[in-house]
Parts: sequence; C-alpha cells; structure tokens
Amino acid sequence: MSIQSDHIEKLVQRRAKARLGGGEKRIEAQHAKGKKTARERLELLLDPGSFEEYDMFVQHRCTNFGMDASHPDGDGVVTGCGTIGGRQVYVYAQDFTVSGGSLSKTMSEKICKVMDMARRNGAPCIGLNDSGGARIQEGIDALAGYAEIFERNILGSGVVPQISAIMGPCAGGAVYSPALTDFTFMVKNTSYMFLTGPAVVKSVTGEEVSQEELGGASVHASKSGVCHFACDTEEETLEGIKALLAFLPQNNLETAPLVETSDPVNRVDDALNSIVPDNPNKAYNMYAVIGSIVDDGKFLEVHKQFAKNIIVGFAHMNGRSVGIVANQPSELAGVLDINASRKAARFVRFCDAFNIPLVTLVDVPGFLPGTQQEYGAIITNGAKLLYAYGEATVPKVTVTLRKGYGGAHIVMSCKQLRGDINYAWPSAEIAVMGADGAVNVLYAKDIKADPEHAKEIFEEKKKEYTDLFSNPYQAAQKGYIDDVIEPRNTRFRVIRALEQLAGKREEIPAKKHDNLPL
Ligand code: HXC
Repeated sequence: MSIQSDHIEKLVQRRAKARLGGGEKRIEAQHAKGKKTARERLELLLDPGSFEEYDMFVQHRCTNFGMDASHPDGDGVVTGCGTIGGRQVYVYAQDFTVSGGSLSKTMSEKICKVMDMARRNGAPCIGLNDSGGARIQEGIDALAGYAEIFERNILGSGVVPQISAIMGPCAGGAVYSPALTDFTFMVKNTSYMFLTGPAVVKSVTGEEVSQEELGGASVHASKSGVCHFACDTEEETLEGIKALLAFLPQNNLETAPLVETSDPVNRVDDALNSIVPDNPNKAYNMYAVIGSIVDDGKFLEVHKQFAKNIIVGFAHMNGRSVGIVANQPSELAGVLDINASRKAARFVRFCDAFNIPLVTLVDVPGFLPGTQQEYGAIITNGAKLLYAYGEATVPKVTVTLRKGYGGAHIVMSCKQLRGDINYAWPSAEIAVMGADGAVNVLYAKDIKADPEHAKEIFEEKKKEYTDLFSNPYQAAQKGYIDDVIEPRNTRFRVIRALEQLAGKREEIPAKKHDNLPL
C-alpha cells in the first residue's frame, strides 16, 4: 500500500467513526426512544447527495470532570450546507448520542460558523435541536457559546429565513435560539421546550406537571404560541420545513420563487356570492374563502392551533407567494384578542421582511372586551398588529367581506395604513361600531325617557343606522375602499391587484431601528 493510499484509508476510517457520533449503543438508545439521529434527519431533509459537511473533525477542548478521556470527532453537532428543492440552505443538527447533544464551546463555534455563512451568502439557516442544554462540565464557556448563537439569530433576523425544529429536549436558556428564529416546528410526544423542567416547577411552586403538559408540542402550538407547527412524526416535521421553504425567498433581497400553476387566473366561484349568511350574527368558515381564491386551494397554515380567531399562512396566487391574514368568523366571531394580534403581527412582519405580499380578508366585529384582555395589555398587543401593517411596505391587498368595525377595521390593513388596494364585498359593513351598540349609545336617553316605546325607538334608530352605515358604500364614496366587488370574482381581482403592485417601491424614514410596542 502506498503512503498516499494509507492516508486516504485513514481518512475514510476517521470519517466512518465520526459518522457514528456517540457510537452504536447510543444510536440504538436514540432509536429506542422513537427518535432519529442527527445524520438520519439531515438525510431526510436535504436533497440526496447535496450535503457538504463542515467541521467533522472538530473536538471539544474541555478537561474538567474527566472530559479529556474522550474526544469524539465532530462533538455533539453535525453542521454544513446542502440543498432543498435545489435551493441552498445551511443546517445544523444536534447529535444527542454525544453527551446528550449538550452544547460545548466548540459546538457553538460550529453552529455559529454555519449561521455566519448563511447570513453572508444569503441562504436560509435551519437548526435541528435535540440537546440536554449547556454542557455542564464546561460551565461558563457553554453559556458564552449560547450567547454567541443568540447574537447571530438576532443579526440574521430579517436577513435570511431562520427555522428551528425541536426534535428532543430543549430546555433552559437553550429555548431562546428557537424563540428568536422565524418559525419553530415541534414533534409531538418526543420533543419539549421549557425554561425550567417539571422537577424545578414542583420545588418552586408545588405544581405537579408532566414534561408533555409543561412544554410539549401540543401545548406550545395551542396555548403559548411558541410552536408554529406541531407535527406527528419526525418525517412530517422535516417535510413541513421543505414545504414552508417553497414559499420563501432565500433572503431579504430576493423575492420568493414563482411557481407554475394551471389554475386559471379568472376562475370564478359562484359559491362565494352566497357564503355570507343573511343574519350578520351567523358564522361562516373563512377557510372556504381562502381555499376558493388561492391556487389549487392549497394553503400552508402557520400557527393552526393557536388563536384560531385569526388565520395566517402562505399560499400562491397565480404562482406568486402571498401571506394570507384572515379573521375567522366561526371562532369567537373573528374578534381580535391579545393572542390573535400577536400571532398576526409576527406573521405580517415576517412577510414584510421577506418581500411576500399580504392579502388580508376582513370580517372582524372589533377587539374582545373585558378585564382579562385589558389587564393583559390588549392595548399594547393590538398596537403590534396595527404597527406591523402600518410599517409594512410590501404590496397589501385587503378585502372586507362583512364586518369591519371600529379600531379593528383600522388595524386590519385599512387604506390609511398604506393599504394599496382595498376592496369590499357588497355585504361589507364598515362603521365605527355595530348597529345595536351605536343605538344604545346615541339614544340611551330617549329610550330611558319613554320606556313604553323603548323597543320601537330602538328598532327605528337601528334601521336608520343600518341603512346608513351597514354597507360598503359610505367608505367607497370617500375612496377609503377602491371598489366594491362581486364575491365570485375575488380571486381574479386580488391577483390583478397583485400584478399591478408587483413593482411597488415604498420606503420608511431612515432610523436606527423602530420601537414597536413590545
Ligand atoms: C453534559 C449531558 C447533559 C448536559 C445530558 N448529558 N445532558 N452532559 N451536560 N447538559 C449526557 C448524560 O450525562 C448522558 O451521558 C447523555 O447525555 C444522555 O443523557 P441521559 O440522561 O442518559 O438521557 P435521557 O434519559 O434521555 O435524559 C435527557 C435529559 C437529561 C432529560 C436531557 O439528560 C437531563 O436532564 N440533562 C440535564 C439537563 C440540564 O439540566 N441541562 C442544563 C440546563 S441549563 P452518558 O455518558 O451517560 O451517555 C442550560 C443553561 C443554558 O442549559 C443557558 C443558555 C443561556
């Protein structure tokens, strides 16, 4: 054997050993928990043969607590670059088989390297998390490593899409990297996220709670909103990431890819002409409207289980990626509350940062009243959505289907928040408030003074108010909406508006950064 082939043989062997991470036994233990290894996950995520690994031979430098006895190549994370659907992405996947995927200083350096490359080269960064947190033996070095990752999450925010998947433990301060990224996926039953685990919770508050109840995927998808996509399996999670990326540009200087569609632009849907019930207090399902107007009825919903009174997600319209924001009349009558405002505000800001036009479908009776909402700062939280729409410079097309009352009408991408094209259906009611509330305020004295005829007075004034305001024409007369359209034509009209706005250029005043109402 020549010296050269001897060297090559050593390389091959060293690579093979590195690929085993913490070794066969720990790989088996990982599989026994129903989890895949870091490399198996990357294989499913990336286009076949596209993965280029970096830092395979990096080793930790810790000597405390006997750590110098073992130096596995690659340490507890697999990092590199690959493609998804032919488009470049940077990835890191924590390897639980090496010290439980716990974060060493060298691991953080590997992760930071790909995060820097993603930002410099303008490609999304995807992190697959499966880690016991800071590597305890490394002490403060591990904390420094986390902070370096967080700083890069912050610098990359709004520059390249950042996606996190939680595929095992993610506890303590480690949760803050996913929280800083744009979208977080979780796997049901095998992943959890919390600042302090069940044992600490019990010792501090006395509360007994399981890992799943405290920080499982379902909890974060429905109650806290920390998780955008809760998936049944690891395969579904990785497929979900790919599906999401198909709607996104590579970075903030690009637009999302145009996709081919055979769905006709001028497809009309007669069912929309009768979807709004005659009774304004009756609900209908906004998903039917979304499904009817987007290409092939395909909608990728974000935050599906959280704040269901507002719907957000991605679709294509004539092949162009759009962000849809829509009130949902069949959940809490589509009212805006704290969670709905937070959810939609974050989505609007993401779309604006990445040049994705916004299509807003409005049917909103107002903000949810009550002490719970006021004490929880519905004022500040509602202002987030107002702020997000008002600062967004991407094309904004709004359709008011039915109710557009009060502050909620303003917040939902009205004309004066620089809405570009604002349409209304003939069933739209754009007013300061609903008829009942208005009559009760304006005629309370008259009704009180004549209790015998209270009902007649109320009904008469209600009719007067309804005739005057419960329609789209007051707003149309003033140019606050641009046109009243037939519902069946909504797809065509929205697509035409988006085509008109494709070259939109709008700036916000130069500033260090804004101070949105956090
Ligand atoms: C070093 C760790 C580790 C850690 C796990 N391991 N977590 N090593 N530092 N943080 C090691 C274990 O010793 C074990 O090594 C191997 O990983 C697998 O762990 P197991 O406990 O056998 O696995 P499992 O039963 O599945 O339990 C997983 C776990 C548990 C729930 C994550 O390991 C655990 O509770 N770990 C500690 C979690 C923690 O408190 N982390 C620090 C949080 S504070 P061997 O050699 O036996 O296989 C923090 C601050 C961050 O992260 C702040 C950022 C700002």
